[in-house]
Amino acid sequence: MKMILEDLYSSKDFKQIGHELIDLFADHIQNTTLGTNPKTIRWNEPDKELSFWEDYLENEKEQDFFEEILNRTTHIHHPKYMGHQVAPTLPITALTAMVSSLLNNGMAVYEMGMSSNAIERIVTEKLCEKIGYGQQSSGFLTSGGTLANLTALLSARKAKVAHDVWNNGHTEPLGIMVCEEAHYCVDRAAKIMGLGEKGIIKVPADENFAMDTNKMEICYQKAKSEGINIFAIVGSAPSTATGAHDNLEKIQEFAQKNNLWFHVDGAHGGAAVFSKKYKGLLKGIEQADSVVIDGHKMLLMPAITTALLFKENSHARHTFSLKADYLMDAPEEDEWFNSGKRTFECTKNMMAMHWYIILKLYGEKVFDEFITRQYDLAKDFATIISNEPYFELATPPMSNILCFRYIGTHLSSNELNILNQAIRRELLEDGEFYLVQTKLNGKHYLRTTLMNPFTSMEHLNLLLEKIKNKAEKLLVKKTN
Ligand SMILES: Cc1ncc(COP(=O)(O)O)c(C=O)c1O
Repeated sequence: MKMILEDLYSSKDFKQIGHELIDLFADHIQNTTLGTNPKTIRWNEPDKELSFWEDYLENEKEQDFFEEILNRTTHIHHPKYMGHQVAPTLPITALTAMVSSLLNNGMAVYEMGMSSNAIERIVTEKLCEKIGYGQQSSGFLTSGGTLANLTALLSARKAKVAHDVWNNGHTEPLGIMVCEEAHYCVDRAAKIMGLGEKGIIKVPADENFAMDTNKMEICYQKAKSEGINIFAIVGSAPSTATGAHDNLEKIQEFAQKNNLWFHVDGAHGGAAVFSKKYKGLLKGIEQADSVVIDGHKMLLMPAITTALLFKENSHARHTFSLKADYLMDAPEEDEWFNSGKRTFECTKNMMAMHWYIILKLYGEKVFDEFITRQYDLAKDFATIISNEPYFELATPPMSNILCFRYIGTHLSSNELNILNQAIRRELLEDGEFYLVQTKLNGKHYLRTTLMNPFTSMEHLNLLLEKIKNKAEKLLVKKTN
């Protein structure tokens, strides 16, 4: 009897569907990057979306699955996409993603990813060099900034806490320091590590939403007086909501003085090590004990690939002590080629290929060009907003993240919050532009991250016009 599985592995079907899909996606990339597609997002309420797909599964329909997916997806390649911090992937990396999906080498041990483990070493060494680390450094790739930040803090605890917490559990209250504006995943990592609310010492932000480094000492002393053993401090490069860069040099000095591990969350802006113009924002990063850089944010790669880099190779090796006889022969040996010894994951994607193919085909200049362009664009956008009487900036942008709001006239603070929230909702339902929102010091802001290399000042001017129109209509509605 012929098995159904034999048909499913037929190369004929794969070729046909594959070629059709590449054609569909090639057209999609062209239409979206040119902005000819009128919508960045076709918003649908979650319950409606759910019933569509329930129905689709049960009832055979004519529509093509992949076309439906395209219709129901946020188009990051569209120049009017300026929402969350995910990269408009370079098309070549969709192909490396396909290679990883099909070959499915799990990476944890060398035999299950020979080329990609070797490639990963080359890529992470390159990143260490860009950071300014010396010969002792090393790193690995892992599944996302969230996981990488957790891993770095586990390394920090191993290196700085005298007691062996990994094997024996906690015997004293431990803590880390981080700016109140940092990404929530640092908070989450600390909670996963059992530090509890008291173990997350939040340093207040200054008026530009970066860590107020003048307050580090007082926060440290207060926590110490409460019996908390602080072992690490995290700098954001930049933080998520406003894109503000912490002063890494000052944090490093403080860490050194108090024998703390210094970790830099550069998930978003660590990529600026490639920008000749903007790498100065990261001054001090070369002194960090560990650094996180996401490939799927500012380095044009698909989700999900993150580099976690260590100034000292030994720290990269020792985070997870493990014994898995079926997998690893010599748990204590420094075998760079068995990358699972260092990572939280066992199986992971062959993600190093995205980094390598870009470096090989286009060179690191593509990163420089992209980051520099997007950061410049945010500054130009800020200049326009500052000159507009109806708009207000939250703070001058330090990266490609920019928060602003419509201020209109004679509106109370509460009315402005409601209005800006309503504007954002209208924009979402309209779908031409995609941007997000955030709350800062109790004020509701519209938030853009200029992720797309095809976004121009023309698009940004159109956005401001559209917001003005929406606001005026909403205000008329309110008075009627
Ligand atoms: C500063 C920062 N750190 C960490 C993260 C989390 O990274 P990931 O989404 O790759 O887990 C983000 C995500 O936006 C971020 O902005």
